[in-house]
Amino acid sequence: MHGKVVLVTGGARRIGAAICRRLHAAGANIVLHYRASAVQAERLAGELNAVRGASVALAPADLLDPSALPALVDAATRAFGRLDGLVNNASSFYATPLGAITPKHWDDLVGTNVRAPLFLAQAAAPALRATHGAIVNIADIHAERPLKDYVVYSIAKAAVVGLTRSLARELAPDVRVNAVAPGPVLWPEDGSFDAPMRAAIVAQTPLARVGAPEDIAGAVAFLLTDAPYVTGVTLAVDGGRNVVL
Ligand SMILES: NC(=O)c1ccc[n+]([C@@H]2O[C@H](COP(=O)([O-])OP(=O)(O)OC[C@H]3O[C@@H](n4cnc5c(N)ncnc54)[C@H](OP(=O)(O)O)[C@@H]3O)[C@@H](O)[C@H]2O)c1
Repeated sequence: MHGKVVLVTGGARRIGAAICRRLHAAGANIVLHYRASAVQAERLAGELNAVRGASVALAPADLLDPSALPALVDAATRAFGRLDGLVNNASSFYATPLGAITPKHWDDLVGTNVRAPLFLAQAAAPALRATHGAIVNIADIHAERPLKDYVVYSIAKAAVVGLTRSLARELAPDVRVNAVAPGPVLWPEDGSFDAPMRAAIVAQTPLARVGAPEDIAGAVAFLLTDAPYVTGVTLAVDGGRNVVL
């Protein structure tokens, strides 16, 4: 990926940070988007820029602000003069049981998980066409099999799979568009998955462990760089969990 430039949304922490590290190690320059995690974003950029000078640029934005989306792509393209990849990783995730769903939940969960990836892809399409680049969306195995009580999140991730297929068609043959559907990797930080729930999830996973962020990052790198005849697919990276769910 030497000389290539990838915009990673939500790149400061957790899975997004692993994706940035993996693509950077493969030689890419990274435009690291973040919203609230400025400290972590600056720390990660500092770490990677120490490995290779001026190889990471920071790009803060609230993805719920529609005007921020083309501006983010502009900033990313200007940072290194080109754009080869877009990884739509940023997401919000929380339960919305039927009976308690509000329009605000919808706007937030659909806004971060679906609307932002669509409008970022639309804004990035000319630059990606110019470089024959690729998009990777981060979906979820619960796009296929909804997570109980996470109604709006499950709908949003199902739409990410649809978005991936639609964009694959619209942007072909110049730009490939694929998705990675993680199984359990990092537990939510709000404590919403308690110990028995975590144990039950691992017990239902054929490979008998949760994934590492690097497992997701490796799949993203594969789809971006090493899959020239693959477009429109959603690759489950879930230890086999979707086979038994
Ligand atoms: N964790 C898992 O086990 C798992 C399982 C299945 C699927 N996934 C998917 O994998 C991806 C990464 O998962 P994760 O757990 O690492 O994600 P996460 O920590 O829940 O969120 C990633 C980042 O999204 C950003 N974000 C949220 N709302 C935003 C907004 N309105 N504007 C801009 N940025 C916003 C946040 O950036 P700031 O911190 O900078 O605000 C956050 O750090 C997500 O798409 C998730 O749905 C994860």
